[in-house]
Amino acid sequence: MEKWEGKVALVTGASKGIGAAICIELVKSGMIVYGIARSVELIQALSDQLKGQKGQLIAKKCDLRVKSQILDVFTEIEKKHGLVHVVVNNASVSGSASIMDGETKDWRNMLAVNVVAPAITCQKAINLMMEKDYDTGHIINIGATSSHNISIYPSHHFWSATKYGLRSMTEGFSMELKSLKSHIKMTHISPGNTKTDFLKGKMMPFDPDFEEFKKFAVRVGVKEENLPKKNPVDLTGEGIYNSEEPRALKPGDVADYVIYALSSPLHAEVSELTIRPIQTY
Ligand SMILES: NC(=O)c1ccc[n+]([C@@H]2O[C@H](COP(=O)([O-])OP(=O)(O)OC[C@H]3O[C@@H](n4cnc5c(N)ncnc54)[C@H](OP(=O)(O)O)[C@@H]3O)[C@@H](O)[C@H]2O)c1
Repeated sequence: MEKWEGKVALVTGASKGIGAAICIELVKSGMIVYGIARSVELIQALSDQLKGQKGQLIAKKCDLRVKSQILDVFTEIEKKHGLVHVVVNNASVSGSASIMDGETKDWRNMLAVNVVAPAITCQKAINLMMEKDYDTGHIINIGATSSHNISIYPSHHFWSATKYGLRSMTEGFSMELKSLKSHIKMTHISPGNTKTDFLKGKMMPFDPDFEEFKKFAVRVGVKEENLPKKNPVDLTGEGIYNSEEPRALKPGDVADYVIYALSSPLHAEVSELTIRPIQTY
C-alpha cells in the first residue's frame, strides 16, 4: 500500500458498515480519504477517532441521488488535490418489498444510489485521471453475491437487479479503458451477508411461514438443494450477530479485500472478488 500514501480516495457510504471499515483501512494506509454520505456527523465522528493515524478522513455531506452534490465533492477535490486516485463506490440502498408489491419510487431510489451515482463518480474520476495523465488510478465497486445470483429473498429482488447493473457497468468501464490502452484499474467486489445495518429487517422471507416460503422459492425457480435448511427468519435478528456460527462476514473482512485489490502490482488487475461467510444457512 506504500504507493497510495498521500494519495486521495473517495469512499461513498462512509457513515457506517462496510464503507466506514474501508475508510479506516485507507486512512491507516496513509491516504487522504473523502468519506461521503448523508449522515455527515457519523463520518466526522469516525474522522475524529482516526486522528493520529498516517492519513486522514475528510467528512462530506452528499446525497448521491443529487448529481450536483456529487459534482461539488469532485470540484473540492480537484481544487485541493488536482485529482482523485482511488474511488470506492460502496453506498447502496435496498428495498423492503418484493417486485410484485414494490413501488416505483423505491425502484428509482435504488437505481439512483446503486447504479446512476457510481456511473457519475466513475466517469468523473476517470476523466480527471486522464486529464492529469494519471494512468494508475483504481476504482472499486462494491456489488454483492446477488450481483451474480438472484437472492431467494423477494425484498432483495429489485436491489439484486441494481447489483447486476453495477457489475455489468464495472465491466463496461473496464472494456472502454482497455480499448484506450489505459492502465486505470476496475475492481468489482461481491460480499455475501455482512454484519451491518443492511441486514437488519431485510432478510424476512416472503411468507413468515417457512414451509410456504419454501414452496414460493421453488415456484420462482430456486433448486431444492439451494433452499435454506432453517427458517431464514433466524438470520434476521440477533441470531446472526451473536451466533457462534459464522453466518456473516465482518465489515472489516470486506475492507481487507479492498486493500488486497489496491495492493496488486502495476501489471495485475483484480477484476472480481467474491467473499462469502463460511456458513450461509
Ligand atoms: N451487509 C451485507 O450483508 C451486504 C451484502 C452484500 C453486499 N453488500 C453491499 O455492501 C455495500 C455496503 O453495505 P453495508 O452493509 O455497509 O450497508 P449499510 O450499513 O446499510 O450502509 C449503507 C451506506 O450507504 C449510504 N447511503 C444510502 N443512501 C445514500 C444516499 N442517498 N446518499 C449517500 N449515501 C447513501 C448510507 O449513508 P447515509 O444513510 O448516511 O446516507 C450508508 O453509509 C453496499 O453496496 C451493499 O449493497 C452488503
